[in-house]
Amino acid sequence: MKALVLAGGLGTRLRPFTETMPKQLMPIANQPVLEHVLTNIRALGVREICVVVGEWGPAIEARLGDGSRFGARITYLRQEQPLGLAHCVALARPFLGDDDFVMYLGDNVVESGVAELAEDFRNHRSDAHLAVARVTDPRAFGVAELDTEGRVLRLVEKPSRPRSDLALIGVYFFGPAIHRAVAAIRPSARGELEITDAVQRLVEGGARVTAGEYDGYWKDTGSVADLLDCNRRLLDALEGDVGIGTDGRSSLNGPVRLGPGATVVRSVINGPVVVGAGSLIEDCHIGPGTSIGSGCVLRGAELRNSIVLDGARVTGRSGGSGSLISDTAEVHLDTPPDAPPGAPGGQPNALAREVAP
Ligand code: G1P
Repeated sequence: MKALVLAGGLGTRLRPFTETMPKQLMPIANQPVLEHVLTNIRALGVREICVVVGEWGPAIEARLGDGSRFGARITYLRQEQPLGLAHCVALARPFLGDDDFVMYLGDNVVESGVAELAEDFRNHRSDAHLAVARVTDPRAFGVAELDTEGRVLRLVEKPSRPRSDLALIGVYFFGPAIHRAVAAIRPSARGELEITDAVQRLVEGGARVTAGEYDGYWKDTGSVADLLDCNRRLLDALEGDVGIGTDGRSSLNGPVRLGPGATVVRSVINGPVVVGAGSLIEDCHIGPGTSIGSGCVLRGAELRNSIVLDGARVTGRSGGSGSLISDTAEVHLDTPPDAPPGAPGGQPNALAREVAP
């Protein structure tokens, strides 16, 4: 089996962060979303991986490299225009040949992995096997209607009136029959070749299309709220050692992982928290669910449930709950008199405000 990872999306809902980095490299528990994806793919024993990229291709390639770090070989393909998921399959046809492959959306975090789904695909000998999960509001997803044996009867992309609560979670297993279906479809109303249309075509042509329900945690990390939720969730699984680098006047409680060269001075850190290499945390109070990237400087800051991107500078007193803090901005966290969106219980903050020099 091969793998096709789709990482061309622009992440418009994550602006302004995605003006300086691709959404697929946003860190969850200090690891880019795409690396979580590759870890799950490698767990299937798959070594031949094609990553389809858009204009962020060079940044993605610089981060992932040739794949040897993951024990895999990565081929990069550039999709010049966002012409749809099925267009990516067509683009990758020479790479895929007639092999079975897993197609994996590069912004989806699937916590428990996809090994069971891959096994179902093999056991059912399906032409397509789709990962689905029950959601409360299916309108934002591709939605599958199944028969009692798990065969797919119908697929609709983002229906206004969903006929089931089973959403496609962005992991699809295909045999070579998908290529004929992709070649036969036409662009949708939004001008894209939709993978849901190609799979629907397989269904109508009598191919064996099945679905498997995934019941673990997963997230399409398309918004700040999704990223923070996912970060919190993955940190909850952190088994922490208390790292070195504290000054004896700091208190580190619960799972706290400090990267090499990270320094904690006169601070309290209540895990689960990860801190990247070389970061300095001075006079801070860092609460659970916080990931601090590499090369950050935090002084006098109070933060919880937050992601601080590599290289960020943060100073301030309080209010930093539920924040994604940019690497391009120097952020001063001060709680305004009226309850801010990032206050406990409030809406997540997206902080990228430059502080005047
Ligand atoms: C894509 C797919 C959709 C699927 C979703 C999962 O939508 O088109 O069928 O349910 O990913 O994350 P997008 O997130 O690109 O809008």
